[in-house]
Amino acid sequence: MIISGWLRHARRTLLATGAALALATGVLVGTATTSQAASQQACDIYAAGGTPCVAAHSTTRALYAAYNGPLYQVRRASDNATTNIGLLSAGGVANATAQDSFCAGTSCVITVIYDQSGRGNNLTPAPGGGEVATPDRPADATSAPVTIGGQKAYGVFISAGVGYRDDSTNGVATGDSPEGEYGVVDGTHYNNGCCFDYGNAETTNHDDGNGTMEAIYFGNASYWDTGAGNGPWIMADQENGLFSGSNVNSQNPGDPTINHRFTTAMLKGESNQWAIRGGDAQSGSLSTFFSGPRPTGYNPMHKEGAILLGIGGDNSNGAAGTFYEGVMTSGYPSDATENSVQANITAAGYADTSSGTGSIAPGSRISLQATTSCCTGDYIRHDDSDTKVVISPVDSSSSATVKADSTWIVRAGLANSTCVSFESANDPGQYLRHSNFQLYLNANDNTSLFAQDATFCPQTGQNGQGYSFQSVNYPDKYLRHFNYTVYTASDGGSNTWDSTTSWADDTSWLTAQPWG
Ligand code: AHR
Ligand code: AHR
Repeated sequence: MIISGWLRHARRTLLATGAALALATGVLVGTATTSQAASQQACDIYAAGGTPCVAAHSTTRALYAAYNGPLYQVRRASDNATTNIGLLSAGGVANATAQDSFCAGTSCVITVIYDQSGRGNNLTPAPGGGEVATPDRPADATSAPVTIGGQKAYGVFISAGVGYRDDSTNGVATGDSPEGEYGVVDGTHYNNGCCFDYGNAETTNHDDGNGTMEAIYFGNASYWDTGAGNGPWIMADQENGLFSGSNVNSQNPGDPTINHRFTTAMLKGESNQWAIRGGDAQSGSLSTFFSGPRPTGYNPMHKEGAILLGIGGDNSNGAAGTFYEGVMTSGYPSDATENSVQANITAAGYADTSSGTGSIAPGSRISLQATTSCCTGDYIRHDDSDTKVVISPVDSSSSATVKADSTWIVRAGLANSTCVSFESANDPGQYLRHSNFQLYLNANDNTSLFAQDATFCPQTGQNGQGYSFQSVNYPDKYLRHFNYTVYTASDGGSNTWDSTTSWADDTSWLTAQPWG
């Protein structure tokens, strides 16, 4: 890796910071196309365009109409047994029920993401590399639930330390050869760590110099290029830089902040030419955010043909993101082919599992309302000025900031996926956690202590209303408000907030519709 000392420092520092969501401001260049018949899936469309898939990865659906093999493999914690998860029907969607039964009563990780192209380019947890010498962990198999075509499925939830790679591939572009790539990602799950990538990388797991990568990047890392607004952006990891355009370390205002719940991110490259395209994976067409020559120092390219997911080329593994499907092609796909692929993606019917009021399913956005008679207009919120967590009144006339500060994204529990963690809606990567039994909003530092401090197991509310949230590492303590501050508290104990007075009411919460 060639990166100056301050930049290296800045990158590590930035890993710990959050970033506000910004509105997407697309530059519409692409045109809508008609929906694809189910007889053609994404890779059938690329093949018809003369740019066939050489790798096709998805945990949610078949990317060829004729594909009827396994999508991915899971391993369960109870006995380390593995099983393959396939499709409900040829060319259809994942059989997530098979995963649910295999993983019942224990937890599972995703150990293989199979290549559907027939070339054997399967992804497995990445080996150590130049930046992080230790291998990466597999993703939790249940942390990214969605529905697709009305059926339940799971994505690949990448957090710091999780990543996949294949250093020995077949048919993937090398040198200056042309290729195309796309990924469907969760536009609301990202950070500024290096690097939530999918695509072509070094076969050595080291930074082999400018042009030795060509991978889609999604996130708000701002220490190389940036786009418009605060991010996240779709950029191209071409090694020693995440590029939004042709100029090194600059801003391309044409590359918008894009954060659709399901976002299509596309990248393609050929000799001294490359392009970024993107759109909403649930509806509408693609836009072109950049198309032009290589940055100085990147022509010709020196692609090596490995495939990675969720990490940088040198195994930098500080990034977060969620991947549902993606492919790599041989040849530079036409815009028309890509537009047809986008129509196929939107027709697949990705949707959130969120069911609104009352839901605590992972992926849901909620607000948490107090039930004590003093405080039924109060919700759990953080404050931008410090890391403390309080209850305070929120209503329809509250500011957008207050509404966002009191909105939480339910995640599968960081320490126990049958429980939950609460990620801030406006500070991605930051979670409610206790420390000295008081609640704070802190960035996940990936320690097991943090995971435990941020995991709460829902039970029926102590006062019969809503839920009580039991601390996973102090099972006698529950989320509680006391003097308008939030703690984890036992019913009688040594801290003032363990007071038995109105304990049941103070520890019972309604899951309300999200304010933000
Ligand atoms: O190009 C950005 C990153 O820089 C690469 O992913 C990584 O190999 C290097 O640290
Ligand atoms: O948190 C507000 C109130 O403070 C609680 O209901 C009570 O326990 C304490 O007095």
